[in-house]
Amino acid sequence: MSDTTAVNQAHFNKLAAEYNSRYQKTVGKLEEEVRASVDFIGVKKGGRLLDYACGTGLLSRALGDSLSQCIGIDVSESMVEAYNAKARSQGFSPDQRIAHVGNLIDPSEPSPAAFSSTPFSDFDVAGVGAGFHHFDDCHLAARRLTQRLRPGGVLFILDFVTHAADPAHADARGVRHHGFSEAQMRDVFGGAGVGTRFAFREMEEDVVFENAHGEGRDMVRRVFFARGEKA
Ligand SMILES: C[S@@+](CC[C@H](N)C(=O)[O-])C[C@H]1O[C@@H](n2cnc3c(N)ncnc32)[C@H](O)[C@@H]1O
Repeated sequence: MSDTTAVNQAHFNKLAAEYNSRYQKTVGKLEEEVRASVDFIGVKKGGRLLDYACGTGLLSRALGDSLSQCIGIDVSESMVEAYNAKARSQGFSPDQRIAHVGNLIDPSEPSPAAFSSTPFSDFDVAGVGAGFHHFDDCHLAARRLTQRLRPGGVLFILDFVTHAADPAHADARGVRHHGFSEAQMRDVFGGAGVGTRFAFREMEEDVVFENAHGEGRDMVRRVFFARGEKA
């Protein structure tokens, strides 16, 4: 496991129990915006979602109504527990919605044995909500997720538009990228083989993660949605 992944795992294990309540307003707003974007993303009724770096399951909750199955994967055991507890409380069976602890983007492990069976391939959509800025190698991450898509399947990334760096904050939270530009995303999608019908749009208003920097300091971000299809 890389240093970045270990920092992320520890940070999000600590944050998991309070993630949804602490950022309730912002998580709710993002969930609503993703739910309203099924056509932009290209979510087809009855499809299957890989919710990568799923956390408590924002993308699964937002898109799940249209889907037959949502599978989450995250390096944080506590986030996975929170995802599964929520899925159970909403009445989903494990066949319909389940998360697993794992890492699909470890450079030294191209095909983790735990994820080699059928349920972990041929997804209609692979989505990453606010995870890409935590990854060491975004190009590798996009390629690994694209491998899990069926031909014509969609890669969807929700993340932050390029913003000022705050190194102290970033290091402690496993943040590796201070947001992304449209050009960077186009390059990531094209390089991974999901550049077909690439589209990028920004939310109209910034989102605020209240007190995310401690001592009452908020984290304000502009969010983008990017999507493209596997040839
Ligand atoms: C900011 S949270 C976002 C969670 C959720 N997707 C959402 O939109 O609310 C980032 C998540 O990425 C996960 N993560 C970081 N690095 C990862 C990796 N290499 N593989 C899988 N998950 C990772 C963290 O554990 C955390 O749950």
